[in-house]
Amino acid sequence: MAAPIRFDGLVALVTGAGGGLGKAYALAFAERGASVVVNDLGGDIHGGGRSKAADKVVDEIRAKGGKAVANYDSVEDGDKVVQTALDNFGRIDILVNNAGILRDRSFARISDQDWDLIHRVHLRGSFLVTRAAWPHMKKQNFGRIIMTTSAAGIYGNFGQANYSAAKLGILGLSNTLAVEGEKNNILCNTIAPMAGSRLTETVMPPDIIGALKPDYVMPLVLFLCDKSCQETGSLYEVGAGWIAKLRWERTKGAIVRRQGQAMTPENVRDNWDKITDFTESDNPSTVQESSVLMMNLVKEIDSGRTVRTNSTSSNSSSDRMDPELVKSYKISPSMFTYNERDVILYALGIGMSTREENYLKFLYEGSDEFCVLPTFGVLPSFSAMRAVFTTDIPGLKQDLVKILHGEQYLELFQPLKPMATLTNRIKIADIVDKGSGALVLYNIESFDEKGEKVAFNQSSLFIVGSGNFGGKRTSDAMIPTVDHPKRRPDATVTESTNVDQAAIFRLSGDRNPLHIDPSFAAMAGFQTPILHGLCSFGFAVRHVLQQFANNDVTKFKCVKVRFSKPVLPGQTLQTDMWKEGNRIHFVTKVVENGNVSLTGAYVDLKEESTPVTKQVSTDLQSTSIFEEMARRIKSSPGLAAKINAIFQWNITKGGNQVAQWTVDMKTSKNGEIYQGEPKVKKADCTLTIDDSNLRDLLTGKLPAAQAFMSGKLKIKGNMMLAQKLGTLFQEQSKL
Ligand code: NAI
Repeated sequence: MAAPIRFDGLVALVTGAGGGLGKAYALAFAERGASVVVNDLGGDIHGGGRSKAADKVVDEIRAKGGKAVANYDSVEDGDKVVQTALDNFGRIDILVNNAGILRDRSFARISDQDWDLIHRVHLRGSFLVTRAAWPHMKKQNFGRIIMTTSAAGIYGNFGQANYSAAKLGILGLSNTLAVEGEKNNILCNTIAPMAGSRLTETVMPPDIIGALKPDYVMPLVLFLCDKSCQETGSLYEVGAGWIAKLRWERTKGAIVRRQGQAMTPENVRDNWDKITDFTESDNPSTVQESSVLMMNLVKEIDSGRTVRTNSTSSNSSSDRMDPELVKSYKISPSMFTYNERDVILYALGIGMSTREENYLKFLYEGSDEFCVLPTFGVLPSFSAMRAVFTTDIPGLKQDLVKILHGEQYLELFQPLKPMATLTNRIKIADIVDKGSGALVLYNIESFDEKGEKVAFNQSSLFIVGSGNFGGKRTSDAMIPTVDHPKRRPDATVTESTNVDQAAIFRLSGDRNPLHIDPSFAAMAGFQTPILHGLCSFGFAVRHVLQQFANNDVTKFKCVKVRFSKPVLPGQTLQTDMWKEGNRIHFVTKVVENGNVSLTGAYVDLKEESTPVTKQVSTDLQSTSIFEEMARRIKSSPGLAAKINAIFQWNITKGGNQVAQWTVDMKTSKNGEIYQGEPKVKKADCTLTIDDSNLRDLLTGKLPAAQAFMSGKLKIKGNMMLAQKLGTLFQEQSKL
């Protein structure tokens, strides 16, 4: 069913296409329907001489029935290069900036000419050809641009200072073009190829050159230039059949400046470990993302509120708790970025297993129902709190080794997405004086990229020995625990944790050695490392969702627990549950010793959502498409036998399923298409797609492979059979 990627009616310009990589791109574009301008100056690898290498490539394309013209201008004459496309084919849609030369010298020996020529061909050449093409792409609201950088630019390479500088300049150019072009559907990506060519033949052994064919780079270039590919502003390394995406990574950093104090090199030295520590990092991908943190910090530092530093000169650390001072303190927001891998790792950490029903949707990103366990929502708050622990907050006496996690409340305002960057706003809501210690209430709100609230956490931490400061004994800010009903539980789930449970769970963020290192655990008074409280918490909420919400994560509203006794990895958890309306009270015990580990706990579920009804709605495009298809298959005898499979189509709108159709090309001779699930046998293959994408898929406008890769089309069951739908679509392509 996968429609091949085609460029019919489009014009592609490839610079430096007389040989090497450029030639491979030019041949492939032409083979797939594009009219191609083969630009090449035809010089030697150092930029000297001229030849008509482009002619040979044009001849080869024409011999195969393709359309191509040659252009012999240097990329330094960008206007002329682009004019050839306009004169011969009337437009320009795709531009691959590929032309290149080398002038390798150790840095001390680089002449002005070596430097300038490399910059003129690579960086300035890419600029000039792109600038000439840009207004045409803008006018037609379509353009695909590929820039060519090099590993030498990304990582540096001996003898290539001129080349590295120009090549990384190209990446900067590409990043900005991606930003400026997006609103006109001009997308720009950069590749760092590795291929055997005359540029590399002197530095690589012949057998390696043979294995690094330009044809192993070409497919990425063509994919990125496909109309339906929406990728932009990205960087890839590609070669030998391997493709990987690169991005920036930034440490959490350290604030080394304080209001009213000079910022000194010693401040930097004293914070160096923190400045360079990648344990917690983020991946800013825009200037805005990169600078938001700094802007906030500037405001905070200059208002005298932020004093996060390891400097021993700190004079703001408190010996006594001062709740009012602490509450007035503004903590900088922090970012939490996660992806599908983190979500799956977390699910494994809280005991999710392939033994369980419905496991795929939590453990496999390719599942058509892939979703995030609601308790994953504690992780952003957790990372935000780590920042607080390393902040010297006036009036807060926090001794890290004496902190116990007392209670946790989590509320979700929307189901968690499989990947996101959340901004966490953290506030110390109150401090309660419990005598033997202080209970500090941290409120953390997490917002998504659009600024919409995703989660609210309240973490209550007990700081042993910090009590008796004359504070109040309770607080209105505290979200209370609730006792369970006195009757026998309505349901009980018992489940063993794994001996490696803490070792897996800690990879989701809490790397406290107490949970893995026996000697550290011994120092803290435990015989062996203990399980994280939030891990037992995850187990228990899973039990509730399994028992009362059919594992439907959208039904979750909030959870509150108190952590009472520790659990050891490998012990068995028993969750007793009581249903009172939408509230499920629960208590979690350790079966082996009867210790109650979670008390006063409850999960609130959302109101029962109305079950999805089959919508026989005329405003669904899919209705008319399937009805028309059903009429047409009657006049295509033999089609059913050719396909011989049953397909179920789940049609969604705004993420909700709104209709189901069965395409049964197996049960009866002529096949049958009707609304609803398969009547006779089970579907061999189930496809899920949004109503608005179905027509594009059927007509090939949205290539199936692309739809699948981008998640627009989900396929369950026998995927190979889905390819047979291509036969059916061809019949229906005039729909
Ligand atoms: P190549 O030497 O086979 O191809 C480069 C082509 O550009 C040549 O045909 C040359 O005549 C042409 N050219 C040079 N100056 C020109 C100008 N001023 N105007 C028009 N055409 C000009 O080399 P290859 O390996 O195919 O390189 C293609 C691109 O990939 C280059 O930008 C190179 O820097 C880059 N690259 C290649 C790597 C590899 O492993 N082959 C590694 C990293 C980057």
